[in-house]
Amino acid sequence: MQTLSAAPARTRTQPHPTAGIEEATTKSTNPAAAPRWRDKPLRLQRGPLPAGARGARLHVDVQLRSNGRAALARAVRRGLLLPQKMLPPKYFYDDYGSQLFDAICDLPEYYLTRTEHALLEAVADEVVALAAPRDLVELGSGASRKTRLLLDALQRAGGRPRYVPIDVSEGMLRRSAQILLGDYPRLQIHAVVGDYERHLHCVRGGRRRLVVFLGSSIGNFTPDEADRFLRRVAEQLNPGDHFLLGVDLVKDHAVLHAAYNDAAGVTAEFNRNILQVINRALAASFDTGAFDHVAFYNAEAAQIEMHLRARAAHAVHIGALDMRVAFAAGETIHTEISRKFTRDDTVAMLQRAGFEPVRWFEPASHYFGLALGTRQ
Ligand code: TRP
Repeated sequence: MQTLSAAPARTRTQPHPTAGIEEATTKSTNPAAAPRWRDKPLRLQRGPLPAGARGARLHVDVQLRSNGRAALARAVRRGLLLPQKMLPPKYFYDDYGSQLFDAICDLPEYYLTRTEHALLEAVADEVVALAAPRDLVELGSGASRKTRLLLDALQRAGGRPRYVPIDVSEGMLRRSAQILLGDYPRLQIHAVVGDYERHLHCVRGGRRRLVVFLGSSIGNFTPDEADRFLRRVAEQLNPGDHFLLGVDLVKDHAVLHAAYNDAAGVTAEFNRNILQVINRALAASFDTGAFDHVAFYNAEAAQIEMHLRARAAHAVHIGALDMRVAFAAGETIHTEISRKFTRDDTVAMLQRAGFEPVRWFEPASHYFGLALGTRQ
């Protein structure tokens, strides 16, 4: 484990749409009956990832449509019946939510993305040298911005990588993939439209892998959920595979508070968007204007907590659940936690999951950490 200084500010590559890149799509229906990949690009596969169809550099594997409506219905019913109403944060990320989150990453107050990007830029060559992957797998890839740093490092190392992004937002995945293919002429992409909590098996394969989970998304899990999730990630890996985890670190409370209460109100819009997702998916009648965005740092639990607070007493009808939900004035729906870590927390968490810590990277600001582990 070692400490590095922050890298100089990056220059962002402007995305440019690329037309006419050949593509193959699979949809999973019956996993048990799934044929193994042979030479046909339009086949579903389980188990080892396909080596890539000749001619098709993008393969889109649709494991999930519309963010799992039945699971959403169950989670909404359960969550809104609790004394402290709750909604599971993964439903933030429909296409609009994914775009809003991408906008959050550019906010002046939201230091996380910038800091992690600069750190990754400084350490990507070392990570690639240590992990020497054939496949780069990204859980919750979003707009794949940080991916470029690893792809660049892989290219510098003379590799011909395959990129395996997994994300719930099909639109975001396709747009990002097209742009990457335009910028990386030798890149193969196997994109998985899926919920990385449910479709981790897509990560399995015989090639040496580097799995990355960035953006401190691990902080959006409770401690138990995080342990369970990381254990499942570790179980999918073979000895010699590596895992890179990005974690936001405990810091000045005012800095943390500002990052989730931006002046432009993008985070508020993002928070309220979960209500629109429910309106659309479950024929609900949430009025997003009836809720305030509330985010604060709970120092004892070392986490930001995010809520939607009803401005006045009112009721909401959820058509698909045949359910009426009453809100008192000031009552909140808990939508998100964002836990903050120390280096020791992170290393212990990786070890509990069955990873052997390889390196720890953090910038001079101590704002953000990247932990590289390997399968024991
Ligand atoms: N992983 C991000 C974080 O914890 C997710 C996030 C950032 C987020 N801003 C948000 C989630 C606002 C919901 C609302 O920082």
